[in-house]
Amino acid sequence: MTARIIDGNALSAKLRGELAAKAAELTAQGTQPCLAVILVGGDPASAVYVRNKVAGCEKAGIKSLKFEYPQDAAPADVLGKISELNADPSVHGILVQLPLPKQFDEKAILEAISVEKDVDGFHAENVGRLSQGQEAFVPCTPNGVMEMLKSIDMPLRGAEAVVIGRSNIVGKPMAMLLTAAGATVTVCHSGTRDLNFHTRRADILVAAIGKPKFVTGDMVKPGAVVIDVGINRLPDGKLCGDVDFESAKDVAGAITPVPGGVGPMTITMLLANTVESATRAARKA
Ligand code: GUN
Repeated sequence: MTARIIDGNALSAKLRGELAAKAAELTAQGTQPCLAVILVGGDPASAVYVRNKVAGCEKAGIKSLKFEYPQDAAPADVLGKISELNADPSVHGILVQLPLPKQFDEKAILEAISVEKDVDGFHAENVGRLSQGQEAFVPCTPNGVMEMLKSIDMPLRGAEAVVIGRSNIVGKPMAMLLTAAGATVTVCHSGTRDLNFHTRRADILVAAIGKPKFVTGDMVKPGAVVIDVGINRLPDGKLCGDVDFESAKDVAGAITPVPGGVGPMTITMLLANTVESATRAARKA
């Protein structure tokens, strides 16, 4: 059996078309959605992500503002910029690209962003709201995964879901969203004793580990949906995920590729959160 491929580019194109229409409508009513992106330091992967986010905005008719700081930037300067953007009514989303250089207290930076403009969904208040099932900005990567599961009509209620990875950006919010949707969720991590025992039971297996080709076909339950959140660069320069696609695709029922899977969906959900924030601002105005 060869798995159905869940095409993140195709799903993104469809959703981004709908978002562009909403952005155009808001702009015509006098509120062009606007995302401000802050990039600190010279991490090459972060620079690529930010470039893709800005390009995604442009294509969807969302205004973007980019602020770059050197590796040795003073946290006070970045905090000052965040305050300025919080107070600017023409800005609807603020994103600080992570990771930050070591002189930064990441938590303090994320908490400085206004909850109403926290389109990454990383502010503690948004995390708390999400955990209680209240309206909140949902972190983009796990939200994109939920859209991918919806696109294949995957029944979530009662499904066994296994998430490998417990980061604040992916693993934890992913577990919350799957739980809210009625799945029985197990979160595995570096301390998990018998990982294969868990992965082989999973109807939905989400890999967010950060290790190239970590999940192999023998770890997958036949027919399972395998979601690969990893983006790793191999020594030859090629991208690969956390899943060994070649072996997993012969066992899984559906699988996301890398590139062209979860990656484009992350940016799509960022655009969606920005348009949502602008819609709320327009409603208030
Ligand atoms: N670094 C890796 N993923 C993300 C993300 O989704 N948002 C931000 N701000 N930084 C990241």
